Amino acid sequence: MPKGRPSSIWVCRACGAQSPKWLGRCAECSAWATLEEEAVPARGTGPAAARPAGPGPVALDKVSALESPRTPTGIAELDRVLGGGLVPGAAILVGGDPGIGKSTLLLQAAGAVARSGKTVLYVTGEESPAQVKMRAERLGVRESSLHVLAETALGSVLHHAGEMRPALCVVDSVQTLHSDDQPGAPGTVSQVRECGAQLTALAKARGIPVVLIGHVTKEGTLAGPRTLEHLVDVVLSFEGDRFQALRLLRATKNRFGATEELGVFEMAADGLREVPNPSALSCGDGSSPRAPGAVAVATVQGSRPLLVEVQALASAAAYPTAPVRRTAGADPNRVHLVLAALSEHADMSCAGKDVFVNVAGGFAVEEPAADLGIAVAVASSLRKRRVPADWVAVGEVGLGGEVRPVPHLEARLKEAARLGLKRALVPAGAAAARDGHGLAVQPVRSLAEALGALA
Ligand SMILES: Nc1ncnc2c1ncn2[C@@H]1O[C@H](COP(=O)(O)OP(=O)(O)OP(=O)(O)O)[C@@H](O)[C@H]1O
Ligand SMILES: [Mg+2]
Repeated sequence: MPKGRPSSIWVCRACGAQSPKWLGRCAECSAWATLEEEAVPARGTGPAAARPAGPGPVALDKVSALESPRTPTGIAELDRVLGGGLVPGAAILVGGDPGIGKSTLLLQAAGAVARSGKTVLYVTGEESPAQVKMRAERLGVRESSLHVLAETALGSVLHHAGEMRPALCVVDSVQTLHSDDQPGAPGTVSQVRECGAQLTALAKARGIPVVLIGHVTKEGTLAGPRTLEHLVDVVLSFEGDRFQALRLLRATKNRFGATEELGVFEMAADGLREVPNPSALSCGDGSSPRAPGAVAVATVQGSRPLLVEVQALASAAAYPTAPVRRTAGADPNRVHLVLAALSEHADMSCAGKDVFVNVAGGFAVEEPAADLGIAVAVASSLRKRRVPADWVAVGEVGLGGEVRPVPHLEARLKEAARLGLKRALVPAGAAAARDGHGLAVQPVRSLAEALGALA
């Protein structure tokens, strides 16, 4: 076999890793049977290949900044996650489980942008225009400046989008498009990468915000190469429990705004409704008693303070030598740490107990500021004693059982007061704790002190 540049390589469908030969299991992400063959394009050689094609280097102070105003989508929760609206030329990838409501969200956004008289192009590769029309009728989207293009050929999509220069172009979904310049069926690594790259290039060249809807694999990551996530400016993930109406929109990457922003929606028959007061959804207003093992916890998601109810249940273990720890919405590592600290520093052992920790309402809380709330909830379940419904707990728990300060304490306390809660367990020494912002604050130095205050 002649040596030299290979004519093809093998690319992992799951993570985009490349291999010079076929492997049953990806060496990078360990997924089985995900490698696909891809042709290597011929490389230019000689002086022509070295000749610059672009305008060349420019001094930074001569470069004009991107100052175009953002276009609000008309959906406040979406705008919040985008960092204030659509930036001209932004490439946005929206991923989510099948049936979670991606097409619904983007069709509503397309309708809202079109309502202001702007032209919007909705490319549908998965559904017929009649299906899109049916959904639009249900969502109350009737704008004539919203155009539907049923197309899967990339060239044709680029042509129409380039001609039309819409204020927003939605591609539903990037996995259905195919480019004639690449081998393979739609949805393969090379096709998704090529289509993503070409559409991103179109967005930049014409200043059109382009939203690519992407599928999510069984493992919960965006299908297609990771390079697609590197390529685009914004990656949004649309999450939710299909058995509940709550839908959460998160930015996992945003070149134009903060990540970890959270948009909260409710799925209804007439589409997604914004939830203006998500704290009340999970936490209530503190007027009705909570069950033993439940406590209000003040968290911050992006720039938004959010109150949630953390629930814990410690019950006699089915297998005392191997007790179970299960979490839904809470970080399992933080729960293990809190359980160890409770056992060592507050004489509250969960040995021989199965422990379940749940965040009510389908919300997820990963931040350490929820530690004290988790500890209080577990202790309340062990003691079988209720925590007053109008109390809120905030604080990180250290390995020494100490309660550590958390960021944005003032915003957390204000949100708790707004909801109607009355009293807060907070880390001692925090400046914001001196003024309770409408709450009676109880500063605590340690887990033992916090549990003492509740006894
Ligand atoms: N008539 C209806 N009444 C109420 N809810 C509906 C109705 N039709 C659809 N839905 C809701 O919309 C969801 C489907 O929304 P949508 O088609 O936008 O999801 P998707 O994420 O685009 O799905 P896919 O991955 O198949 O493209 C359903 O799971 C359901 O919750
Ligand atoms: Mg869809």
